[in-house]
Amino acid sequence: MHRTIGHLVLFVLVVVPLSTGFLAGNRLAEANLSQSIYMESSSALITRGPTVHMVTNQSAVLLWKTYLPTNATVQYGLNMSLADKVSNSTLDVTHRIKMTGLEEGNRYYYKVTSNDTSSDIYNFKTAPADGEPFKMVVFGDNRPDTDTYVQPAAYSKIINMTIAEAPDIVVMTGDYVYTVNNDLGTNRLRWSAFLNITERLGHYVPIYAAIGNHDTGLAVGSPMISYFLDAFEQFGEPSTYFSFDYAGVHFVVLDSEVSGPQSRITGLQSTWLTSDLTSSGSRMKFVFVHRPLYPLSHIGSSLDENKTERDGMQQLFESVNLTLFVAGHDHLYNRMTVNGVVHLITGGAGAPLYGTPWGGAFNHYLRVQVSPSLVNITAIGLSSETMDNYRLPYEGPIEIFLRVVANNSLKQAGTLPEIYFSEVPVSKLYSWDGAANMTTLTGLPSSPGQHQLDVYAYSSEGVWSHTVFVFRTTGSTTTSTTTTTTQPVDFTQVLVIVGLAGVAAVVLIVIVLRRPKTG
Ligand SMILES: [Fe+2]
Repeated sequence: MHRTIGHLVLFVLVVVPLSTGFLAGNRLAEANLSQSIYMESSSALITRGPTVHMVTNQSAVLLWKTYLPTNATVQYGLNMSLADKVSNSTLDVTHRIKMTGLEEGNRYYYKVTSNDTSSDIYNFKTAPADGEPFKMVVFGDNRPDTDTYVQPAAYSKIINMTIAEAPDIVVMTGDYVYTVNNDLGTNRLRWSAFLNITERLGHYVPIYAAIGNHDTGLAVGSPMISYFLDAFEQFGEPSTYFSFDYAGVHFVVLDSEVSGPQSRITGLQSTWLTSDLTSSGSRMKFVFVHRPLYPLSHIGSSLDENKTERDGMQQLFESVNLTLFVAGHDHLYNRMTVNGVVHLITGGAGAPLYGTPWGGAFNHYLRVQVSPSLVNITAIGLSSETMDNYRLPYEGPIEIFLRVVANNSLKQAGTLPEIYFSEVPVSKLYSWDGAANMTTLTGLPSSPGQHQLDVYAYSSEGVWSHTVFVFRTTGSTTTSTTTTTTQPVDFTQVLVIVGLAGVAAVVLIVIVLRRPKTG
């Protein structure tokens, strides 16, 4: 796979190397929570957790909270006898105990005790050695549809299915609650409902989380990321963007919700991102953030809000051979490869689905199996059905993608379809309605009815790819008190046949090794 190697200007930024080897940005929390988020628990004294966090190949942090200030003890070991112990006699309501000297790639059992009250026994697995295989699960946008304190049933089911997957690591792509406002009591109810379900998984696996727009309080005018920071325990806090290495893979979590440049990655975060990605020597790099670079629904209000910045990020990702870019925000599933960078949207964990006509609007999670030679990505529905499967490295002919802009608004004829290629073609050709091939794509024809776009791409391996997209333009203009002769095109009526179990593909026909028409 060939990628354009861009020349990057490196900036020097203060980063914070900590003992676990992560790098963090420097967005600070504006306030600390004055009260814990109290939760139901098997014990009246233990109100939250225990949950496992920041797991490396030799250490892990356990977090739990108690209703009253207590001491804290963790008993742990490679079997249920829990032979090792670490304690803290300082009385507190929030307990963080770090276990060190753990064996690489092993399952540890543990329980925590506060005063005379103990938790159940849970277990987690330490990170494997660099280059060893591991399983990751990713999902996002679990929030309720309305301002209720009850989380969607689909989210609870996805948590249960993820527990059954027994992954090594979990990443969530944002929007965990409906809103955050100025009422401490209702905020606690919203986050408690989320945490009560999430901690069922958090007993067993470290969860990393990107912040979503619904999690910030910006919707009501004041940023309150303290609830998000309290809900998750991850590298670099109180920064909401950070990176770490796991089994030799470099993970980056970004914050697309910074107050001010919301829906953009700018300033110190942008500088840090460039420095972080270009300085990483990991063979694989994954980036997670709430808002996608190439959204299907939130057009222009995602990381595509500033096209120059969007293109700059894409060029950065290409230059560092980024393996995966995973976002949420659009409540659907989508996969698209742009010049070698696989962009996934996973926003189907319970929030109301966006009923796009080409598919992708289904509840799901992603299972990502990572090994030195292969990344196997599977989108899984709530009946355990495979909705999409994709393997990297991709060895086939150039894939041709259409990013369908379907937002129920009429588009003027002439609007340029957004065509992307999985790698930079040696040459590419376009043809509308069987006319002569063109080297430059033109906009949708103005005449009402069905229109066919043939796209050809020629790879450096000497293989032609051919994909056909079919559109239908609506009839005559609707507005016209003006003299314009252009006619609107309703993108919601784009005719597509959904490929591969109705997932993200908008390809109608793909013919490989077929040469384009001439003339
Ligand atoms: Fe969102």
